[in-house]
Amino acid sequence: MQEHDSQSIAALIAAQKPGYALDQRFYTDPGIYELELEKIISRNWFLAGHVSELAEPGDFKVLNIARDSAIIVRGADGSIRAFANVCRHRGSLVCLESSGNTRRFACPYHGWTYDTDGKLIAARSMPDDFDMSEYSLRPVSYGEIHGLMFICFCDEPPSLDGAIRDLAEPMALFDFPNLKVAANRTYDISANWKLCIENYQRACIP
Ligand code: FES
Repeated sequence: MQEHDSQSIAALIAAQKPGYALDQRFYTDPGIYELELEKIISRNWFLAGHVSELAEPGDFKVLNIARDSAIIVRGADGSIRAFANVCRHRGSLVCLESSGNTRRFACPYHGWTYDTDGKLIAARSMPDDFDMSEYSLRPVSYGEIHGLMFICFCDEPPSLDGAIRDLAEPMALFDFPNLKVAANRTYDISANWKLCIENYQRACIP
């Protein structure tokens, strides 16, 4: 296993020539991937789908990003929220389904049960003075850009205001907020995540 301290990673970045493909180690080094999880993946917004996927109260979907999992759900009040898919009891995944409609999420491990607002509403065999209000599912940052749902696993995510402003005109051309999802396709790609991004960037020198 190759490993780099932050100094040698900084040296790799400094040696990177603009317009050229990244050094192979950026795609294969576990140390660099760990740094990406900390500096990039955990701090940025991820597209979670279109609001039409969660049309009714109780509609939910689960999104797994790297080592994190989130439940995105339309609550009884009609608002969409996102929560960490991690039980506040012993850390089990709460929801094992990828999507559906529900009035509550029951953890498969010991049955702690949460409503669609993330509040803990049942926890058996706990002491009389156990305060369920302190054990809601942890919120995940949620935002929308003209009908597209985004989540971010950090508490203070970058602002979406610029994207909302800049995309208002082009997305209005297609009436984005009122689109419907016609089909979903999932592709497993045996490659570092950056290759998928670069595939849509302009060509660089190999
Ligand atoms: S880990 Fe969820 S109820 Fe125990």
